[in-house]
Amino acid sequence: MTATTAPASYGSRAHWDGVHTLLGDRGGARPQAAGALLDHMAAVADRLAGAGGVVMDLGAGQGALARALARPGRLVIASDIAAGPLAVIRTPGVAGLAADAAYPALKPGTLNLVTCLRGLWTLPDPAGVLAVMTGLLAPGGHILVQLWDRPARCRLIGTGAALLGKVLPDLTRPAGEAGPFDIDPDGLAALAAPAGLELIATENGDITADIADAPGYWREFDALAETAAAARLRAPAALQARLDAALPGVLDRVLPRSDGATGWQASIAWHLCTLAPAGSRRQIIPPR
Ligand SMILES: C[S@@+](CC[C@H](N)C(=O)[O-])C[C@H]1O[C@@H](n2cnc3c(N)ncnc32)[C@H](O)[C@@H]1O
Repeated sequence: MTATTAPASYGSRAHWDGVHTLLGDRGGARPQAAGALLDHMAAVADRLAGAGGVVMDLGAGQGALARALARPGRLVIASDIAAGPLAVIRTPGVAGLAADAAYPALKPGTLNLVTCLRGLWTLPDPAGVLAVMTGLLAPGGHILVQLWDRPARCRLIGTGAALLGKVLPDLTRPAGEAGPFDIDPDGLAALAAPAGLELIATENGDITADIADAPGYWREFDALAETAAAARLRAPAALQARLDAALPGVLDRVLPRSDGATGWQASIAWHLCTLAPAGSRRQIIPPR
């Protein structure tokens, strides 16, 4: 007899530990879209953080952003509810903090910058976490939050999510929980206002990834939609094979063909939103 266990509830430590264990060390080439997003986020964060100071990356996952932000004289705290991925970050100047974002156990007024890349909508109480983070900011500090643009501009993740959602019941989001497209910059400003935060700048970015085949699509998708990726990888091999077989037809219906027509072009677009305590607008450093 085979024992079955219910999947850990979405957002729990067990859920994220399981996702990171499955996806943790997959190696291979850096996906185009996740790489471009990371580079953009790191550039804006680097500018906001200034030369030294303390930066906390909230929901740091495998620590790619935290590592990208490491500089002499700067402390980067990679914080996540899942301890597993933090344990393998071995970069000078980067410290791991395994903690729920709602209870970070840091002294008030210590952070010059908080970053949150692909993380805000995964939190059960994003407004509450923004309030907690505001209390941790040093004078002149900022919070940099990444959000996705609307679904029509994010076909790279929407296409696979729609396909997986039809066959994997685990991917049904509990009622009332935010999804990746449920918070836009106006919504973020509304969530942040009760904490005394203002949205003081938004920078937009986008990329179109060239997809050659089904494995190439999943490589791009998995790096940006980990919960869905983990659900696919947990599915029985026969179902995974059926998904792979169905994917080219789905991509044909939804995505433009690449030049030469051997593959597809999958785009994704994002907003990088800078929040600061109301009244501190003058402290922002203009883009170079
Ligand atoms: C979609 S992943 C993004 C990871 C990383 N920021 C990146 O872009 O690669 C969301 C991350 O948030 C973390 N997370 C989820 N809920 C959390 C919570 N309540 N407190 C802290 N981290 C949390 C997860 O473990 C996961 O690493």
